[in-house]
Amino acid sequence: MIRIAPSILAADYARLGEQAAELEGAGADLVHCDVMDGSFVPAISFGGGVISAIASSSPVPLDIHLMVENPEKQVRLLAGLKPKIMTFHVEAVEEPLDLAREIRSGGALAGAAIKPNTPIKRLLELLPEIDLALVMTVEPGKGGQPFMEEMLPRIATVARAVSESGLETLIEVDGGIDENTIAAASAAGADTFVAGTSVFGDPVGIADAVKRLRTCAQQATGS
Ligand code: DX5
Ligand code: ZN
Repeated sequence: MIRIAPSILAADYARLGEQAAELEGAGADLVHCDVMDGSFVPAISFGGGVISAIASSSPVPLDIHLMVENPEKQVRLLAGLKPKIMTFHVEAVEEPLDLAREIRSGGALAGAAIKPNTPIKRLLELLPEIDLALVMTVEPGKGGQPFMEEMLPRIATVARAVSESGLETLIEVDGGIDENTIAAASAAGADTFVAGTSVFGDPVGIADAVKRLRTCAQQATGS
């Protein structure tokens, strides 16, 4: 199953409620919310207040991506918003298994994300204890960057490990996903696609962009 997760980071913040509301009719599976703290990554984005406003404007399930130091704090703060997925970075925690357990005990799916230069082993060893593996396809921190094709073998490695272990872990990719890059990511084994610029910046519109991305991803897997 292909899931498209538009990233609200690329929305027009002056029309945030309206844009979030549009995602349901557009057929988005998730709304991806990037929390940045100005420390784990240079920029600061938004936190619980804004995510709560998004949740009140749209019934599309929340996919929260924590690009923060000490994600334990945000996990606790944001659990009340009842996200579908809460993802932390392996680089930001010392006890990833404890945090994954805490996320699950709050009722969310636990995700672990990995930056492009971190050895993939750090993600592979967590697979049995997480619900989603997020392979970053850009350096985290901002939208609009080009997709790093050299991440494709990492996606394939994770997909192979998931299938060989008989797991059902979702495989998400984030960064530079558009109609030209989604097929390769899908063919490599990703099933959940974050897309910011290519959805909110689409000249035709959000709904059309989501539909085209889904078609490209499906064609790549023959589904
Ligand atoms: C980048 C964020 C992404 C970002 C993707 O650090 O994690 O979710 O919004 O934006 P695009 O799709 O424009 O690369
Ligand atoms: Zn993200």
